[in-house]
Order: sequence, then structure tokens, then C-alpha cells
Amino acid sequence: MPVLCGKCHSANAEVHIPYAKLSLCPKCFLDFYVRRVKGAVEDFGMFKEDDVVGVAVSGGKDSAALLHALRQAYPNLKVVALHVNLGIPKYSAHCQAKVEELTKMLDVELHVFNIVKELGIRISDFRKTVFRKKVCSACGTVKRHVFEDLARKAGVDVLATGHNLDDVAGVMFNNFFYGRWDQLVRLKPVLPPLAEGFASKVKPLIRISENENLLYCLYGDVPFREIDCPYSSGTGVRKRAEILEILSRDNPYFRHQVLNRFLELIPLLENVVSKPALVKCQVCGFPSSSDVCAFCKRVALVKKALGKG
Ligand code: AMP
Ligand code: FES
Ligand code: ZN
Repeated sequence: MPVLCGKCHSANAEVHIPYAKLSLCPKCFLDFYVRRVKGAVEDFGMFKEDDVVGVAVSGGKDSAALLHALRQAYPNLKVVALHVNLGIPKYSAHCQAKVEELTKMLDVELHVFNIVKELGIRISDFRKTVFRKKVCSACGTVKRHVFEDLARKAGVDVLATGHNLDDVAGVMFNNFFYGRWDQLVRLKPVLPPLAEGFASKVKPLIRISENENLLYCLYGDVPFREIDCPYSSGTGVRKRAEILEILSRDNPYFRHQVLNRFLELIPLLENVVSKPALVKCQVCGFPSSSDVCAFCKRVALVKKALGKG
């Protein structure tokens, strides 16, 4: 016997949301999802309706769902999409094509930073450096810096990323186990600007699981990438996600509990964790905790390995 949707009571339910004890039809699931995103934006005070919001769109399901849902939730909000082309053969061109398809469909302005054109390097080039087994970690540093740069140039007040509940709860767990309190504090849903003229950073999907993002894209016909980054397999993030998966089996609310407990802890930690004093990077001028920022050090390393330094 098919189960009827718990909201409209007319269509068949296709999605079960265990933590909300709800079974929904695709249409009501899409509405539920948009309301959840709006709820997080409002509960955490992520942006005001007259802010310019830049959404970092990678081509993956999370950030594609985020851009789409923000357009539905706030049709009058000024939203721009920011994409970093990482120069990874085949993968990056595919991601950019999906982002172009999505932004065209939603009529959203797109700003692309192509690291091959702008920096003369590819993420794949990190294989020639000490980061050969940690390409993903070097890539993260490059992306974070480029987001700030793109956001500044596009006049963005608030930069939104698609970090989801699984990502954030997993990284929180890991930072807790290793006692990385300074990094744990940085997982807050709203981070203030690094300095004057920079954007604040928000994570509107912090309460939404990876699986819900996937369903939103599938039911909402939201285009997203069909291939995986060649450097993503077997990383720490994936292993941590497996631990949480096991712990979540008997308790569908487990990840939400992890998130909520850490969100309670962060304000207490902030009082005791010392913040590094920031200076201007001698190369790029961005705020940095050392004379040359992590981004500039990594770019220099690759250029040296390529004989361009
Ligand atoms: P990741 O660190 O790959 O899990 O990505 C986290 C978030 O960063 C995504 O949900 C996007 O919002 C953003 N992001 C990652 N890669 C890119 C990219 N190449 N271009 C724009 N945004 C990105
Ligand atoms: Fe950065 Fe895969 S997207 S290494
Ligand atoms: Zn720098």
C-alpha cells in the first residue's frame, strides 16, 4: 500500500525524513527543503534582504541546491554565483559547464576565476610538490583565498557556501578528537569578515544532510556534476563520514545532535581560544597570520616545481 504524503495528503510519499518523522511527496519535499534553508538563514541571522549574497557554486549537488533554494526562498535578493575553475583535466570543464547551465536556468550572474589563466597553475600540479598525497588540502587553501578575492571583486557582502550537515558534523567531530579548538571555532554558521572590505561567510545548509541535497537536485531538476574529483577518494573527510554513518544508524538525529552540542560549545571556546594577530601578506596583501599567507606559499611552491618560480 503506498503511503500518502504527510503534508498534502493527496500524492504518494516518496521521501522519508526520519528526524522530522515525515514522509513527503516530491513537491512537498521541495517546499520543506526551501523552508529549512530559510529557517537556518533567519535563525542564525545570515544576511539581510538588501545584502548582495555571493554563492560559491562548485558544480556539486550541495552548492547547486543552495543557489536554487535561495532563489526560491528570496526571489528579490541580489544573488551572484562565484565559481573557481581549478584546471583539473576533464573534471573542471565539466563542473564549469554545469554551473553555467544552472546559472543560466536561474538567471543569476556568474563570476568565474580560472586558476590556469589567473595564476598559471593547475590543482593537479600540486602532485609535483610535497602536497602530492594531500592535493585536496592544498586545493582547499587555494579555493578559500580565491573565494575572498572573487567576492571582493563582485561587490559581495555575504559569501554563502554549500557545506552540509554531514561535512560540518564530521569536521567538528574530528577537530574535537584532535583538540583543534581554533579550527572548531571556525565552523560557526556565520563568520565575520576577515577585515574591512571582505565578505562575511555563511553556511545556510548547515542543518541539511548530503542526501537531502541530492534529493532536492533530483526532484527539482537542478543540474549538478556527474563525475567526481580525481583527488577526492579516500580522504579523511570520507572516513569520518563513515564513522558518523555508523553512529547515526540507530539514531537519525545523531548528526543534528553533534552539530547542536558543538554550536553550544563554540561561544564558550571562543573566550579561551586565542586569535592569531593578522598582518598583511607581503605578496598579495590579504590578511594573514604570517608574513606570507598560506595561499601565496602554496602557489610559489607549485611555480617552483614547474620551473616558473
Ligand atoms: P568542499 O570543500 O569541496 O566540500 O566544498 C565546500 C563548498 O565550497 C561547496 O559547497 C561550495 O559552496 C564551495 N566550493 C567548493 N569548490 C568550489 C569551486 N570550485 N567553485 C566555487 N565554489 C566551490
Ligand atoms: Fe580540490 Fe578535488 S576539488 S582537490
Ligand atoms: Zn598572500
